[in-house]
Amino acid sequence: MADSAHSTPYTQQAAYTTNNVGIPVESDEHSLTIGDTGPVLLQDHYLIEKMAQFNRERIPERVVHAKGGGAYGRFEVTNDVSQFTKADLFRPGSRTEALARFSTVAGEQGSPDTWRDPRGFALKFYTREGNYDLVGNNTPVFFVRDPIKFQDFIRSQKRRPDSGLRDHDMQWDFWTLSPESAHQVTWLMGDRGIPRTWRHMNGYGSHTYMWINGGGEKFWVKYHIKTDQGIEFLTQADADRLAGEDADFHRRDLFDSIARGDAPSWTMFVQVMPFEDAADYRFNPFDLTKVWPHGDYPLIEVGRLTLDRNPEDYFVHIEQAAFEPSNLVPGIGPSPDKMLLGRLFSYPDTHRYRIGPNYTQLPPNRPQAPVNSYAKDGAMRYEPSRAARPYAPNSYGGPAADTTRFGDIAGWAAAGEMVREAYKLHREDDDWGQPGTLVRQVLDDAARERLVENVAGHLRAGVTAPVLSRALQYWRNIDKETGDRIATKVNGG
Ligand code: NDP
Ligand code: HEM
Repeated sequence: MADSAHSTPYTQQAAYTTNNVGIPVESDEHSLTIGDTGPVLLQDHYLIEKMAQFNRERIPERVVHAKGGGAYGRFEVTNDVSQFTKADLFRPGSRTEALARFSTVAGEQGSPDTWRDPRGFALKFYTREGNYDLVGNNTPVFFVRDPIKFQDFIRSQKRRPDSGLRDHDMQWDFWTLSPESAHQVTWLMGDRGIPRTWRHMNGYGSHTYMWINGGGEKFWVKYHIKTDQGIEFLTQADADRLAGEDADFHRRDLFDSIARGDAPSWTMFVQVMPFEDAADYRFNPFDLTKVWPHGDYPLIEVGRLTLDRNPEDYFVHIEQAAFEPSNLVPGIGPSPDKMLLGRLFSYPDTHRYRIGPNYTQLPPNRPQAPVNSYAKDGAMRYEPSRAARPYAPNSYGGPAADTTRFGDIAGWAAAGEMVREAYKLHREDDDWGQPGTLVRQVLDDAARERLVENVAGHLRAGVTAPVLSRALQYWRNIDKETGDRIATKVNGG
């Protein structure tokens, strides 16, 4: 990291210990006392600094995706997609520095990497037109389709208020009362629910996003970031064993493989839907519980992501990394996916709480593009304001928005009454169809058998009536035969 714009000023190795402002200290081992038995003196500022700093070492962990790891690297364009987007990072020949963070969702900071869970797949691209964050998962879909249910969903996956324990009954209670979860739950209970390593999993943007080309034409896109290492998974038995043997198995694997020069890479593809197709496509193209079948919208290659630089300090570069789906650069915008629109608010809000209002000035979040913002002051600000007068418009040479170069609004026509309603159904919208296709047409016999075992094992671990009977019906709705086989296993067959 020494050559990167993201290294800290504290890289010089001192030959002697100093306190936090560079003053040489008198001892690493002995507090200042009256005689060898004390008392300890208040004027030992170094001792006090050590104790006080230690007491403040922890910041709140991420409310979700708390356990993870990551690395820096680069993104290189390998195919010309300029007909679909004018984003500088996707311009032919473009090469952009990037940061990736992978994570589990529900577990806390010290939790085992190999628990069954979706994995976060968060990317930050330091583009010439500002930071672009693609904050995805290793799955193309999600459990719910309205942001008002996200908090309930997460609480059902975390810990019970009374016992402080995670609880399968609570998880299946929520899932079976929320049938839109069926696609994501089917995916989760299959092989991809426990990747062998982070290097052996795909990433997906999951949501539909908008791309805008140089002529102002708009398209809907879905991102697929496919591992060049190949997909590999862990069986439930291997994952359980590793959870005990090495809780940091995935974090260690990424760090060690980059350290030995084995840099993992992924090839990015997009599916592109013409803007007008969205209105009467057979599925709602903005519903996060659905994929766009490859047969309808084939994958188009975009470029390659390579991770080849470990962070020099885990806390500085990974714990303080702040990804936010609202970081969208010219040529890329959101879509009417309600989940995505909810997320645009949530991330910067949690960063201000978790890290502080000036989190964008920290090494992993600092853009490589010029920052000409009118933001000022706030806790821990160290970048001086670039504007001579802190308001716009001003007549003292402050920055003014360049609406001719960057002013395309990534929007769509919207009108109607205010409502609280589900999406209107498209022709083939239902909760069971796509998970059924996954079970029947994508999984082979061995993968289906592992799915049945995984679900039955999960249900046997604490799921009781009435949730259990709803869970068996849920699986029969996805696929009758699979549901029947799960029921037989749960009942001891
Ligand atoms: P395809 O046959 O073209 O695609 C099936 C895809 O399923 C594969 O390309 C692969 O995605 C993914 N897959 C393979 N094995 C597994 C597994 N064990 N668990 C989860 N996913 C797996 O068919 P369609 O595009 O018509 O999709 C059929 C079903 O496949 C969908 O209902 C969905 O459940 C699943 N799927 C579809 C994706 C899509 O974007 N169309 C993406 C992922 C899954 P990949 O190539 O990304 O590795
Ligand atoms: C992390 C909220 C859905 C991927 C987080 C965090 C919050 C959050 C508050 C913690 C961020 C931090 O402290 O740094 C939400 C809300 C959602 C939602 C409100 C739905 C309305 C999703 C979806 C995906 C996703 C659908 C993937 C497609 C991630 C990832 C992280 C994360 C990868 C970890 C980022 C990192 O590595 O720092 N989410 N989330 N989330 N979320 Fe979401």
